Order: sequence, then C-alpha cells, then structure tokens
Amino acid sequence: MNQDAMKRQAAEAALSYVEGGVIGVGTGSTVNHFIDALAEHKGRIEGAVSSSETSTERLQGRGIPVLDLNAAGELSVYVDGADESNEQLELIKGGGGALTREKIVAAASRRFVCIADESKLVQVLGRFPLPVEVIPMARSHVARELVRLGGTPVWREGFVTDNGNLILDVRNLEINHPVSLEQEINNIAGVVTVGIFAQRPADLLILGTPDGPRTLGRT
Ligand code: 5RP
Repeated sequence: MNQDAMKRQAAEAALSYVEGGVIGVGTGSTVNHFIDALAEHKGRIEGAVSSSETSTERLQGRGIPVLDLNAAGELSVYVDGADESNEQLELIKGGGGALTREKIVAAASRRFVCIADESKLVQVLGRFPLPVEVIPMARSHVARELVRLGGTPVWREGFVTDNGNLILDVRNLEINHPVSLEQEINNIAGVVTVGIFAQRPADLLILGTPDGPRTLGRT
C-alpha cells in the first residue's frame, strides 16, 4: 500500500468522529482526502472553519459552507494532518505553511483528531525541519536566536503565508522537551507561531497502515 492510500485510509476513518455542528478542517494532502470524504456526508455538519485559503477553496468547491471562526464559537472537532507525531501525540506541523491558523483552530476545538500515514510516527520530534512563522522584518533576528538554541534555520524563500508572513524551517533540532521548546520559541520577538503542537497536542492520532487504520490516544 502506498503512502497516499494510507493517508486516504486515515482520512476516511476520521469521518466517524464527525458528529455534527461546525467542525475545524486543517490543511495538506491528507486533509484533502478528508475533505473529499466529508463532501459525501456534508449533510451531517453545519459547516467548517478552515485553516487555510487552499482548504477553503477545496471545501467550497465541494459545497461545504466555510464559516468565520469568530462566528462559529467552540468547534466540536478539528481534523488535521501532521508532519511528525510522537507517542504522546505532540506534533510538528507547518510543512504546508498553515501552522498559525492550524494552531488557532486546534485551540478552539474540543477534540483534535490528527490523521497521517504511519511514517509520521517518530520516537523523538525533530527529523522533519521545524517550521516557524515570522514577521518579515524579524527574519534575521529570529534566525540568530534559533541558531542560539542549536538549530539551523533555512528561510523558505518565495513562500508567503496566508497571514503575509515568512517561514523559517529549522533543521538539526532534537526536540526532547516539546512543551518547553514551544514556549521558548514562541517567546522570541518576531515569532508568530512555532510548528510544535505540544501545549495543545492531538487527542487522537489515526495512522493509515497496510493492516488498516491504527488509532492512538483518547477515543
Ligand atoms: C500544513 C500541515 C500539514 O498538516 C502537514 O504538512 C502534513 O501534510 P500532508 O498531509 O500533506 O502530509 O501542517 O501546514
């Protein structure tokens, strides 16, 4: 079974956690499968709050109403992918550059269901370069601070986030204490969001595997 089929399997399994109301929808190729599957059951929900312009376009293209988070209140569930997850369901996200809105929608949701293929599960976070969204004028300052923390930041040149900011991808970080590193990087002046999701980890991780979906966490 290839990686894309495993992503689709996880995405389809997440449908059973959609119970109605307004839901949060993330960004990425795994979420694209989820949106396609959700379109077949769209009568079940009032609509979706989207974490990116790309997902908004896909949701609307499939007839799923997209709502403003300010009008939606607390969301019942948020479904999103990840670049890495450890066994505690602490994540690295932001490979698609949507990390800030993803973190906001995750924070506003009662349950966070993460969907991925099995290759995303790791012992220690950090093999995937850690995305950090920064205000443009702070790029060099934040990069120097990240070097001080032991990382090697690389500017994702030519990429602008939906919020008009830049991304630094930080290599060579072994993230043994995700909660404290998340706080530390978020405290650097000029950082909008770091792609560590540990203060608010996923509640559930559904992994696509050749043997069928594997679920970790609190069901
Ligand atoms: C986007 C993300 C995605 O969830 C992450 O990059 C995983 O993407 P994919 O489902 O394509 O593997 O955080 O900002």
